[in-house]
Amino acid sequence: MILVVGANGMLGRDLIALLGDRGHGIDIADIDITSPESVFKVISDLKPEAVINCAAFTDVDGCESDFEKAMAVNGEGVAYLAMACRDLGALLVQVSTDYIFDGGKGTPYIEDDAPCPLSVYGESKLAGEMNAAFSPDYLIVRTQWLYGLYGKNFVETMLRMGAEKDELTVVDDQIGSPTWTVDLARAIIALIDSGCRGIYHAANSEYCSWNGFAKAIFEESGLSVAVKPMTTTELNRPARRPLYSTLECSKLTADTGFHPPPWRDALREYLKLRTSNLS
Ligand SMILES: NC(=O)c1ccc[n+]([C@@H]2O[C@H](COP(=O)([O-])OP(=O)(O)OC[C@H]3O[C@@H](n4cnc5c(N)ncnc54)[C@H](OP(=O)(O)O)[C@@H]3O)[C@@H](O)[C@H]2O)c1
Repeated sequence: MILVVGANGMLGRDLIALLGDRGHGIDIADIDITSPESVFKVISDLKPEAVINCAAFTDVDGCESDFEKAMAVNGEGVAYLAMACRDLGALLVQVSTDYIFDGGKGTPYIEDDAPCPLSVYGESKLAGEMNAAFSPDYLIVRTQWLYGLYGKNFVETMLRMGAEKDELTVVDDQIGSPTWTVDLARAIIALIDSGCRGIYHAANSEYCSWNGFAKAIFEESGLSVAVKPMTTTELNRPARRPLYSTLECSKLTADTGFHPPPWRDALREYLKLRTSNLS
């Protein structure tokens, strides 16, 4: 059985749906990853062959004002999961982020590039990556710019704001690959089924700015909204973000045969599914 921790979250719910009978989901009501007692009890009771950790403190700006919680959930929580997996001989799959990089490289990041987080969130997720290695059997999957049916995300924010306004201003100097949680879930399952270990990057292919992504969301939804540019400096959010954090995913494709679709195709699929879910 593959245990998904954080199964009520945006990625967790898609993983559970795709895993079907192979999967079992738990979330904060059943396990608190910041508590070693809770983690060791649940993992030793359930005896999974693999644990996919999707549980995290994902409020990037919120992490800036709560360093202790960020480290407890995103860093120490992973250590407890890894030690419980080690005791059981189970695989730990830790989901990580492009925010462990500083965005200064200028070309897509490969798995071996040196991390240099700019934010508390990035620092805490990097601690989680290092702690995953407490399990001799571990897989780290770095991803970025997630959206899906089951959580707060940029696509839903744009669609809500675009229904209220005919002009929006969106940053155009951060570049990355918007990634649908269904494609990420497919990539994670392909990595597990192919016996991959170590670090992998997994995101939809091709890239854009948040501004370009917003324009595509409105074009694909048939909404007429003007999207004006602004800079990250003008937006002035509490947490610093990498300006260019595209992830090179060719190792994923080479080792699993899975080729993540271009982000715009994935967006189209997501919007179709969203419409059929709403009707
Ligand atoms: N969202 C993105 O754009 C993005 C980008 C790159 C990487 N990632 C990574 O991808 C993974 C999945 O992200 P997501 O957006 O699907 O996350 P999400 O929707 O925020 O889901 C996280 C889940 O973990 C639960 N959780 C929080 N603290 C917990 C704890 N102490 N013990 C057990 N469960 C706890 C949350 O419960 P509550 O809701 O009750 O807190 C929530 O159900 C995370 O590792 C994240 O860092 C996300």
